[in-house]
Amino acid sequence: MDAARTVSAPENATKPADPPIIRREDYRPFDWAVPEVALDFTLGLQATQVRARLSLRRNEGVTADRIRLNGDGLTPVAVKVDGEASNSWAMDGSDLIIALNGDMHEVEITTAINPAANSQLMGLYASNGMLCTQCEAEGFRRITFFPDRPDVLSTYRVHMSGDKTQFPVLLSNGNCTAKGEAADGTHWAEWHDPWPKPAYLFALVAGELVARHDQFTTMNDRVVDLGIWVRPGDLDRTEHAMESLKRSMKWDEDAFGREYDLDLFNIVAVSDFNMGAMENKGLNVFNTKYVLADAETATDGDYDAIEGVIGHEYFHNWSGNRITCRDWFQLSLKEGFTVLRDQLFSQDMGSEPVKRIEDVRVLRSAQFPEDSGPLAHPIRPDAYREISNFYTATVYNKGAEVIRMMRSIVGPERFRAGCDLYFERHDGEAATCEDFVRAIEDGAKIDLTLFRRWYSQAGTPKVTVRLEQDGDAAVLHLAQQVPATPGQPDKQPMPVPLRIALFDRASGTHAGERLIVLEDGSASFRFEGFAERPILSLNRGFTAPVSIDRDVAREDLEFLAAHDDDPFARYEAMQDLVVGHLTAAADGRLAEGDRPGQRAAIGRALGGVLADAGLDDLMRGELMILPSQTYLAEQLATSDPAAIHAEREGLKAWLGHELQDALLAMHARASAVPFSLDAEARGARKVKTQALVYLAAAAPDRAAELAAEQYDSADNMTDRQGALMVLTGLESPHRTHKLIDFYNRYRDNPLVIDKWFALQAQSLHPQAIEHVKALALHPDFTLRNPNRVRSLYMAFAANPHAFHKPDGEGYRLIADLILALDPINPQTAARFVPPLGRWRRFDAARAALMRGELERVAAAEKLSRDTFEQVERSLG
Ligand code: PHE
Ligand code: ZN
Repeated sequence: MDAARTVSAPENATKPADPPIIRREDYRPFDWAVPEVALDFTLGLQATQVRARLSLRRNEGVTADRIRLNGDGLTPVAVKVDGEASNSWAMDGSDLIIALNGDMHEVEITTAINPAANSQLMGLYASNGMLCTQCEAEGFRRITFFPDRPDVLSTYRVHMSGDKTQFPVLLSNGNCTAKGEAADGTHWAEWHDPWPKPAYLFALVAGELVARHDQFTTMNDRVVDLGIWVRPGDLDRTEHAMESLKRSMKWDEDAFGREYDLDLFNIVAVSDFNMGAMENKGLNVFNTKYVLADAETATDGDYDAIEGVIGHEYFHNWSGNRITCRDWFQLSLKEGFTVLRDQLFSQDMGSEPVKRIEDVRVLRSAQFPEDSGPLAHPIRPDAYREISNFYTATVYNKGAEVIRMMRSIVGPERFRAGCDLYFERHDGEAATCEDFVRAIEDGAKIDLTLFRRWYSQAGTPKVTVRLEQDGDAAVLHLAQQVPATPGQPDKQPMPVPLRIALFDRASGTHAGERLIVLEDGSASFRFEGFAERPILSLNRGFTAPVSIDRDVAREDLEFLAAHDDDPFARYEAMQDLVVGHLTAAADGRLAEGDRPGQRAAIGRALGGVLADAGLDDLMRGELMILPSQTYLAEQLATSDPAAIHAEREGLKAWLGHELQDALLAMHARASAVPFSLDAEARGARKVKTQALVYLAAAAPDRAAELAAEQYDSADNMTDRQGALMVLTGLESPHRTHKLIDFYNRYRDNPLVIDKWFALQAQSLHPQAIEHVKALALHPDFTLRNPNRVRSLYMAFAANPHAFHKPDGEGYRLIADLILALDPINPQTAARFVPPLGRWRRFDAARAALMRGELERVAAAEKLSRDTFEQVERSLG
């Protein structure tokens, strides 16, 4: 261990300072290439030994006499250089520095880790008796010392051995090249992945698993063996995942010309997982939530989410693995693009307009608030302390919107040409967002100079719209403003593509839609041939992720809500009608005399939606959903959540009362549709529960009876959960009975018990906060399982009337959770900071309470880097 003679470590590394800030502009390539890695695992739940052999080649022009290998919580058991035991090394913080003078070396490092003690779920950890890994973004350094950065690409050979009964299945990336047994009850396997990859795509799984097997024949007639691995007993819930995988593989060939590149593709489902799933090369690891489904235990929404996530991870094989990121600031290069790809996939598999509306709803409820708060950052951030905090709705969902805009501007064919060029040009590389934009420019033949600002500027642009009549022409005046965000006080205008149509008032039709692009701060567009001012349908299909500020007559919104031929624009008109009314009412700007007229207009629009025979039920269900409380709050500079809640519930009750007969008839009609997974039956289930939602507000007793009936007669989880969701919000004996029944029915199924927790935490029941406190003490609650934590506390933090209780009890609960969870699982703990971080957007009393809780967290003796950074930014 005496290394100070050859390698000096900095002194005085005792007092922990604030975690350092990493900056995009500081990027430098690594000094060494690591063409080959050989890993040898001796597996044990409490003790796993890892021997890593790295071949090293000095990069041209590098003169350093050492190599820095990242580690996190590791101590080297042994270090060899070129086959000889070495003591020419030292620790620098948690990194290992080894002295190296030649151009080529082989270093071998042995480490010992305890997977069972790994509650962070990063690196190698134990879950339900099995071993699995999670390495993105910086988990590999918790397994062995390594240049843990995405621009170091290596081919991996993995050898693993372990107890045959404890770990009957041994999996890693690529292909299994050999396996065998030893006399001592252990067995071993060797895996080889021919494709060079960064360490974050490494994976290993060992445990008692069973697989559903299938095959896919690629466009070039190569047969790929597929396996979906789950715990014994879960096998009959993997069919949908397998079908989704095969559809994904086919779709990527058809839509993007991308063929799979290994003979084997495995998916493993684990129940303890921080995120949704992980695209490790040839061995995706999934949260069980995104694999397991059957009609009895999964909702239609779960089915869709599984298809989407399976697609997402599969599509990463090209957008992420074959072309990876140069550094983590480029995360949106793989995530934004892959989200777009999974969205287009799901659009093609189901209803395109409904999927689009759902995606916009997610963007508005998760990303818009992020973009207008203290955590706002560009889709390509400039600085971070902990990269895990940047797996955000901005990088993912806004990232997808930005690429979708490019596609809208050039059209699908030219966009495809740009993507083809990108894949061709950068295959095998660690690339940047700039590389992507340039490939689209060259391949699609377009100049994206100004468009690049979407990558560097945070904040949701606000577009102000005015339509003016000038003789026989309609003149559209547009102006944009990109709001200031932390660290970015001044912004420049960004190209905003808007698909529009102008409806002639007399005929109620339009002469075709067109795409206009607002390039500058403001512009006017002139449309000839309108004797009177037309009705403007704007941002059709949500071509641009902006907020729109327009002075529009309610009659025009009513017209569009009833007649717009663009389904998204029709939905948007419905939403606008309600948003305009509710924000004015909650903000005290609504004259009481105006309330009846505004409600009546909304009632007519919703009544039209219920009656419209031209609508399918999936779309009808979308049009029935009122704007969320979060989205409403987002429209106001500061808001009182109780006022928004009261107004929104009041409107719901009024509508439920006004349209009671139609809603009851719809519930009866939909209840008669037999279960199947086709669009018609799914649509029926959607409107059925939507009807109950309105009725519950208007006629709670009647609704409770109907919901109880729906619960009892349900032959699928969608109906059962929908009914229970409505019941949990009501004061009724059925509420208690059905909650008990649900628990007893599904007590052995953790994913369904997650729903049971979530339904109560997000309910409209006035005592929801008391229920959450009691549930936290339930024997099935644990801080060690992220799904369970989210099902209780994330659901609660997203339940405005409970979380924003005026006494601050909700804030206290979340702050207590953060403090308790941070030492166990910092990544998941840090995700609970943003709800408190939005304090500036609430009334002064609540703002002070929220801020106070953040300060209490900040004062904790020891905070993870993850939580420290989020709290610091939120207070900043
Ligand atoms: N890369 C994963 C995805 O988006 C997400 C992920 C990030 C999973 C970090 C685990 C840890 O598909
Ligand atoms: Zn992803």
